[in-house]
Amino acid sequence: MTGTTTQEATMRLAGGVSLVTGASAGIGAAVAQRLALTGTHVLAHGRDPERTAAVAESTGGVPLLADLRDPAAVDRLADEALAVHGRVDLLVANAGCGHSGPFDVMTADEIDDLLAVDLTSAVRLTHRLLPGMIERRIGHLCYVTSIAGRTGVAGEAVYAAAKAGLDAFAESLRLELVGSGVGVSVIVPAVVETGFFERRGRPYERRSPRPVSADRVARAVVDAVETGRDEVFLPGWTRVAPAVRAVAPAPYRALSRRFGEQVRSAGTPEGRSS
Ligand SMILES: NC(=O)c1ccc[n+]([C@@H]2O[C@H](COP(=O)([O-])OP(=O)(O)OC[C@H]3O[C@@H](n4cnc5c(N)ncnc54)[C@H](OP(=O)(O)O)[C@@H]3O)[C@@H](O)[C@H]2O)c1
Repeated sequence: MTGTTTQEATMRLAGGVSLVTGASAGIGAAVAQRLALTGTHVLAHGRDPERTAAVAESTGGVPLLADLRDPAAVDRLADEALAVHGRVDLLVANAGCGHSGPFDVMTADEIDDLLAVDLTSAVRLTHRLLPGMIERRIGHLCYVTSIAGRTGVAGEAVYAAAKAGLDAFAESLRLELVGSGVGVSVIVPAVVETGFFERRGRPYERRSPRPVSADRVARAVVDAVETGRDEVFLPGWTRVAPAVRAVAPAPYRALSRRFGEQVRSAGTPEGRSS
């Protein structure tokens, strides 16, 4: 497993209570299923009632529904999660949605919704769940971000900004929580075999990085929590991209312009190329 570890392992999953957002599909469903194998009580959040119920049932856990675009629904989700077993020991903030296309043709609602789901909901849930963890001196916060937030991607400006914001939030919290008994991990996937790309409106068509399975990401989440890992890139070699950008920004940006995503055809200032 590639990543850095500066924290003591903070919690045992067995017997604990874990809230996984976006557990109704893809990575979140795989995380809920992997967590269930550890003996933790799973609280499976989703928006789609049938898929959320099915995942919750497969984990022996409890389904919780909320549309994370709505801050009041986020607060209700936190309260409902705390009410099930009286505490939440692990938050896996995984729910997210993408958007592909030039920033200037996004609607204001699309921008707000993406920031609300991918950034604000995770910050707000943390705000609600963290005090109990600090009080009990045990807990873990795990955020699923994206390589897009570390490198920037044409056509994904708001998505990348949300994920970069989540990264900075997690990095800061980890520093703030030293000695508190609460750990913080960040999972940084590149491309994962889920319905994410279809849902965002444009399939993944590049050769590299090759998609990894949702279960591989799920195993990384469990390992990160159990061992107190700070961050994990999936696949591991993708950590090179932000490192190169940091030490050699000009060549990195030239290569990105040449080989990166293209969203705007020459001569069509207003249009999407795909
Ligand atoms: N797939 C990739 O290649 C990839 C790469 C890097 C990072 N990630 C990140 O990994 C995380 C999981 O993505 P995935 O690949 O598993 O995608 P996915 O299969 O599309 O699943 C997304 C999950 O987020 C939930 N969600 C989306 N919008 C929501 C909303 N408004 N309110 C509540 N829940 C909402 C969905 O719930 P419903 O289905 O019930 O609506 C679903 O459970 C995301 O944060 C994504 O940014 C994915």
